[in-house]
Formats: sequence, structure tokens, C-alpha cells
Amino acid sequence: MNIPGSDVYLNGEWLPRGEARVSAFDRGFIFGDGIYEVIPVYNRKPFLMDRHLERMVDNLAKVKIPDPHGGVEGWAKLVQALVDRQAFENQKLYIQITRGAAPRLHSFPDKAEPTVFMFTDEMMILSDERAKEGFKGVTMPDFRWLRGDIKSISLLAAVLGSEHARQHDATELIFIREGIVTEGASSNVLICKDGQLSSPVTDRRILPGVTVSLAEEVAAKVGMPVEHRDIAEGELRAADEVMITSSGKEIVAIVSLDGKPVGDGKSGPAFAKLWDGYREASGVRG
Ligand SMILES: Cc1ncc(COP(=O)(O)O)c(C=O)c1O
Repeated sequence: MNIPGSDVYLNGEWLPRGEARVSAFDRGFIFGDGIYEVIPVYNRKPFLMDRHLERMVDNLAKVKIPDPHGGVEGWAKLVQALVDRQAFENQKLYIQITRGAAPRLHSFPDKAEPTVFMFTDEMMILSDERAKEGFKGVTMPDFRWLRGDIKSISLLAAVLGSEHARQHDATELIFIREGIVTEGASSNVLICKDGQLSSPVTDRRILPGVTVSLAEEVAAKVGMPVEHRDIAEGELRAADEVMITSSGKEIVAIVSLDGKPVGDGKSGPAFAKLWDGYREASGVRG
């Protein structure tokens, strides 16, 4: 199949997209037995790379897949090699590692080589004007497993949630577990009420997001430290501002939730500060 885009990395080889192949017995394909990472790249420099690679190496340890590149330094070289081969200045770089191909048995195989797949796509940078207009969000009960801290490639819940959002013309789906906000289908959540920024507790229910960690640093610098606590569904709906963060979407103002305006229905001052801080740190403006 001809798949448009730049060359990909697969198990030590650089290949045109349409020529990259893995075994149908790869445990990623059969069980979703693998983890992934997404790193934004600005002006050809992987952004906050160490944080992403540290989380990825940590994820490999959590799911007991042996690290085929021996830690952050080995991965960093490979990431830069991939970035350097591409034409775009700003990129969204994807890394996937599975437990490899083996006869189909749920428990770990005795012998399997991890599969490593990496590619990068062009990253579009929103203009300040468009970002400040904000986007729509919708909510749904969180029906995912209880290891949201693992960036697992088993993403069926995120796929169904994101499609639900798309059907409602929304940019992101926010999950709510037993009345408490957890995170977006592929993002973390921040709310602002009376000038106080809050974000859910970072425990096993959610992914410790790299973007939200930067947003917190920006917020602290401008005198708006983020508190981590359980956020009730009612607080989400009554917030002055709702934001989501991710490496791909950066920082997004959610100005309507389930068809109702958030605050006054416009992006607010907390978003403006976080957006500016993020753009400054990334070194890129749209
Ligand atoms: C479920 C989930 N939460 C949070 C995030 C945000 O993480 P990061 O900011 O590190 O991209 C993602 C990113 O894909 C995600 O899938």
C-alpha cells in the first residue's frame, strides 16, 4: 500500500511507509501488548525529550519489555536521527515498542525480540488567533482500565471516546470516573476557577503528561500555581476555564462542554498566560 509521508524506522531499518511490515503474530497486533510515546519537535529539536524518553523507559519497565536501546541516551540518538531525515521543521514524532512476534499465548514468550517502530509527521502550529477562539469538548463516563499511567498501545477506549467527540464536532473527550474528572481521551485536563488552576491527582488513573508538567511550570512562574486534587464533575461544568494539554494538541481552551458554554464561552486569561508561556518555551509561533 502506498502511504504518503516520510521514511519510517522499523527494527534497525529506514523504510518507505508502504514497505514497513511486521509479523501478523506481533503481540502488538494480537494483544495490544506494547507501549508508545509521542514527542513534539520544534525547529528540528525534540521538545522536552528527556521527560518523554524517561517516561517511555519507565513504561517499558512497568510492562516488563526489555529496553532494546538501553535507556534514554540510546533512544535520544535514534530520535535525533529520525528528525534529521525529515523535511519538516516542526514534527510529531511517534515511537512504538511491542513485546515482539511469538506464538499466541497471553503470558510472556520465552523468546521474543521487541519490535521498534518510529515515524514522524508534520506538526501544524495553530495561530494565536485560532487558539484563542477555543474548541468544543464533550464528556463521557471513564470506562477504561485502571492503569492509565501506562501509555499502552491498547487504545480502543481512546478511539471510541475520540470518535464520540468527532461525532459531536468536538476536539476532545473528557472522561469522568464516578463523578471525578480523570483526563481527556488523549490529553490531561486543567480547570481554572476564581484564578485558581487545578488538575486531577496524578495517580494510576491517568497519564503523567509532559505537556501539563510544562504548563504547571509556566503557571508557577506567572504566580498561578496549579493544585492537584480530585475535581468533581460539577466543578468542571462550573469552571471559568477548562483546558486540555497534550504533546500533539499543545494547550487547548475548551470553550464549550457538552453543548454548554464554559464560563463566558470564550478562552480566558489563564489560558492566554499558559499559551504564551508554552509558545515561548517551544520557540515557535503560528
Ligand atoms: C490518555 C492521555 N493522557 C494525557 C496525555 C498527554 O500527555 P503528553 O502531554 O505527555 O503528551 C496523552 C497524550 O497522548 C494521553 O493519551
